[in-house]
Amino acid sequence: RTVYVNGEYLPETEAKVSIFDRGFLMADAVYEVTSVIGGKLIDFAGHTARLERSLSELEMASPVTMDELLAIHRELIVKNNIDEGGVYLQITRGAGSDRDFVWPDPEEVPGGIVLFTFAKPLLNSKTMDEGIKVISVEDLRWGRRDIKTTQLLYPSFAKMQAKRAGCSDAWLVEDGFVTEGYANNAYIVKDGTIITRQLSSDILHGITRAAILRFAEEAQIKVEERPFTIAEAQEADEAFVTSATGFSQPVIEIDGEMIADGTPGPIAKRLREIYVEEML
Ligand code: PDD
Repeated sequence: RTVYVNGEYLPETEAKVSIFDRGFLMADAVYEVTSVIGGKLIDFAGHTARLERSLSELEMASPVTMDELLAIHRELIVKNNIDEGGVYLQITRGAGSDRDFVWPDPEEVPGGIVLFTFAKPLLNSKTMDEGIKVISVEDLRWGRRDIKTTQLLYPSFAKMQAKRAGCSDAWLVEDGFVTEGYANNAYIVKDGTIITRQLSSDILHGITRAAILRFAEEAQIKVEERPFTIAEAQEADEAFVTSATGFSQPVIEIDGEMIADGTPGPIAKRLREIYVEEML
């Protein structure tokens, strides 16, 4: 694979970053994952808008302009011949001369940037046909989940607990209410209404979430943005999750309790069809 590191396209085995890079030492970095279908980026404008917001909330500068970023994404997709998959992008605060809790002056220390592609089937997934099982775990992440940082140890810990329980996902719960999935936004459907937590610093403002809610409205499906509990989810008619690389995926079981009859629900299926049709 060819990857992009700090201004250069290199084979992945030759790409290097400093051991003093603050992304590596302190998770002082933000990221985006954009999916690719038929060699085309899906909702790139949404991802760059969120990236700019993450950067500005952390007073971090991008080493490249958003136009350059698009050009790098496209170049990597071509170089690596990506038909279906995605592009991972990470911007760090760069490498100080040592380990320091104080941010370096951006005039002196340029930010670090890394991009790589991955090939992965997105359109035909087994989990879409069969649905996924989730467990709930306490949400112990920091309080600014609206900023897409690379502090992913807790989500990774939650995913491991899910895996050990024979499930593929974890839903995070704070003060009795679901915030979101470990790497996706969480939804339930009751009596034809989609229920999902409202935007705040408690959750990541999913790019797929924004699109799915827009399509739901266009299809005249009611949407209620409010928190819900695991008990309410277990009694719902449907549950699903959304993310850039998963689109919308039905959830069929939560903490061992089947949702309705334990098969993917019609609204989740329909939204996925609309999403794929509209976004490609
Ligand atoms: N995860 N919530 C969290 C905590 C996430 O990490 C993600 C994305 C989402 C969905 O956001 P979007 O629809 O913009 O992808 C919600 C990415 C895909 C990841 O970490 O791999």
